[in-house]
Amino acid sequence: MILRKAAVVVALVLLTGGIVRAQAIRLEREGNTARLLVDQRPFLVLGGELGNSSASSMEYMRPYWEHLRQMHLNTVIAPVYWELLEPEDNRFDFALVDSLIGEARRHDLKLVLLWFGTWKNSMSCYTPAWMKTNPRRFPRTADSSGRSQEIFSAFGKETLEADKKAFAMLMRHIREVDGSNKTVIMIQVENEIGMLSTAREISSWADALYKGKIPEALAAHLKKNGTWEEVFGKGIKTEEIFQAWYYARYANEVAAAGKKEYPLPMYVNAALPRPGALPGRYPSAGPLPHLMDIWQAAAPAIDVLSPDFYNPDTRYWCDLYVRNQNPLFIPEMRFDRSVAAKVFLVVGHYKGFGFSPFSIESPSHASLPLSRSYDVLRQLTPLITDRKWLAMDGFLFDHARRSDTIRMGGYTIVVAHYNVLPWAAERMDSVWGSTGGMIIQTGADEFYVAGTGFVATFSSADPGKVSNIVSVDEVTITDGREVKGRRMNGDQDHQGRHIRFATDEWGIQKVRLYNSPRAIE
Ligand code: DGJ
Repeated sequence: MILRKAAVVVALVLLTGGIVRAQAIRLEREGNTARLLVDQRPFLVLGGELGNSSASSMEYMRPYWEHLRQMHLNTVIAPVYWELLEPEDNRFDFALVDSLIGEARRHDLKLVLLWFGTWKNSMSCYTPAWMKTNPRRFPRTADSSGRSQEIFSAFGKETLEADKKAFAMLMRHIREVDGSNKTVIMIQVENEIGMLSTAREISSWADALYKGKIPEALAAHLKKNGTWEEVFGKGIKTEEIFQAWYYARYANEVAAAGKKEYPLPMYVNAALPRPGALPGRYPSAGPLPHLMDIWQAAAPAIDVLSPDFYNPDTRYWCDLYVRNQNPLFIPEMRFDRSVAAKVFLVVGHYKGFGFSPFSIESPSHASLPLSRSYDVLRQLTPLITDRKWLAMDGFLFDHARRSDTIRMGGYTIVVAHYNVLPWAAERMDSVWGSTGGMIIQTGADEFYVAGTGFVATFSSADPGKVSNIVSVDEVTITDGREVKGRRMNGDQDHQGRHIRFATDEWGIQKVRLYNSPRAIE
């Protein structure tokens, strides 16, 4: 009897031990923002996503790990490929996942893993061969002419069960090999889900469901009931909503099956549409801003909906994603020079908890300056994530937007592209490339100003006062310990008028201000 009790206690400890460990990685939400906590400590993801095929060969990856560290990344976003994880039905091979985790750990990097499961950019190209070749068991969708396409149906019950099982096995394995080290900190469920080339699946079973009542869970969420067209109106947008519901339910079940094994934070990502494009011309029904309610109602196991940026307007889309308690995490962004500026807007203005350009290891990106921004952000991380500041904001400039006005405490701060300065405009390289930065207010009259290619001018918000600079110090911060560099005065602060970073400069400057009466007494 005593022995049996002891066994129960041991089992409980093992069970809850797993759960306690797992909850050690979680999102702590505050309005439309969140902090990712790893062992209760906030973690800002300064990441990069590998090219799609890179993590399929550790030999291929070998030269890149060190380089990624030197770029000041703290996290690599890497795919796990279903076709390689379960090459035969119910035979799992974790060798690649284990090497990936081992390499990341050796290089002191965290991992966000992408589950390339049923869908990858709408398609089902990462499903194992035993699934692809069995369309009876794993039904496919058809285009508008009825031609079968390599996109598995969201209504395939066996497909869903197979995906849930594989994903759950993956999560169980990660818990077993990484539950205490916590190298893997977050999971993306599927990749850029979205229907092509129609707004929704066209099949007898999908048509029947579309003509039927909307699901009870959705009716309860909307507090409305009726058919899809009665509730949402007739048309292609309603077809997209219908498909979004079923994609989200599917992703939710996959995520929930995985979380049962190991409840890491999980997100889904979306391909953003071109302006004016109709659903089906872009991947219809993905986790897009206009479908946020549907996705959130259908997929409570998904923690975050994330945008993938390939050219679209950063501010416009970020504004749409930080709503409904959805924090900003950017898993993909076209990797060009501008990301080194955009990251300051994402972290400073939107309080995003992670940023990650795509194809991070590609040698063609080696000369881009992202590492300089990550170096600055790495230094500022404790200041940013501990949230002991009074205010924080970020900005992004280019030829179209050259300045912003920010109000912080008793100050109005005009921040502008470096090229607005008269002497900069004469520079040979005065093209209006993206520049950006952030300001953190840590005291009534104390600010950290950081970034590249901008000028910041502080004035008192009180019309009865004028503000001037007490001191500007260049600082570097190591593990929260601050070391002063140059005292930035004279030409460097335009004889006390402003704080600035040229377009080829990156850094942190600590600013102290004082105020005097506007009228001379
Ligand atoms: C978005 C996808 O999510 C990525 O996996 C990749 O295919 C990029 N597009 C483009 O290369």
